[in-house]
Amino acid sequence: MDIAAHTIGRSQVLCLIGNPVAHSISPQLHNTLSMMTQNELTYVPFKVESGELEKAIDGLRALNVKGFNITVPYKEDVISYLDECTGDAKVFGAVNTVLNEKGRLIGYNTDGEGFLRAFEQETCTSFRDKEIVVLGAGGSARSISLKICSQKPKKLYIVNRTIDKAIKLAQALSTGSSINVEAKLLTDNSIKKILEKVDIVINTTTCGMFPEIDNSPLDDSIIFSSKQIVYDIIYNPKETKFLKSAEKAGCRTFNGLNMLLWQGILAYEIWTGTRLNEVEISDVIGRMKNIL
Ligand code: ATR
Repeated sequence: MDIAAHTIGRSQVLCLIGNPVAHSISPQLHNTLSMMTQNELTYVPFKVESGELEKAIDGLRALNVKGFNITVPYKEDVISYLDECTGDAKVFGAVNTVLNEKGRLIGYNTDGEGFLRAFEQETCTSFRDKEIVVLGAGGSARSISLKICSQKPKKLYIVNRTIDKAIKLAQALSTGSSINVEAKLLTDNSIKKILEKVDIVINTTTCGMFPEIDNSPLDDSIIFSSKQIVYDIIYNPKETKFLKSAEKAGCRTFNGLNMLLWQGILAYEIWTGTRLNEVEISDVIGRMKNIL
């Protein structure tokens, strides 16, 4: 008979820190992964009120948890309470995964890599030599655009409602690199033409997310062209108004569910120090898609 990991004395704890956390799929994902890989790990969500973050992290240190995820609104604030940041966490200035390495808390960020893995797996293509529009210039746009630039696209447009943020991100992306990055205002007259000709359009804005499902970052007059790949990192609803219009135009469309699962899979690999094989990855993605 299988025994649940949390009933075993030597079981180790993983958790999620954020506010809110009740909607999170991470407990289901990580407990499913622990069960599948027969690791004695239990994952629990903790809602932490503002002003309580330092105490929460101290508590996790004292309890010697194996690791934890950090979500909104603490991905940046948490850095002051960690011992070190590594890889993308250092570059992005934001952490979504923490590993407790013999008492030292090390911050990682799997958001950008999670997007890249999901995109490559789903579309069977890369960003190399492509023309791409990223809608949005917030935290998600930053981590996704940095990964896109690492693949040497032909041209990247950062299109945002607030032009200052788009300019700042475009400058950060092109500094010290040869990538052609241009900032554009979402309502600029040239947007329609740009959106018609690029190869890939990615929505990283929060516009269209539940409960505002009737909203779209794009004007209704904008029509996609059928050869485009259109990606929305929103996963609730599964098909946003933005994705519906791309689907109608005959584009290949993808939502943010795989990205969400991949960033979690990569966190699990950091905590356990093992790489999941392809069969395990497609198994867990399949199981999660059945639940969600
Ligand atoms: P995240 O960490 O998820 O990226 P964020 O940093 O708050 O969240 O960024 C949200 C992005 O969605 C921003 O680019 C924001 O545009 P502004 O920079 O102009 O605020 C964009 N956004 C949010 N609501 C939007 C809307 N109704 N229309 C267009 N863009 C919107």
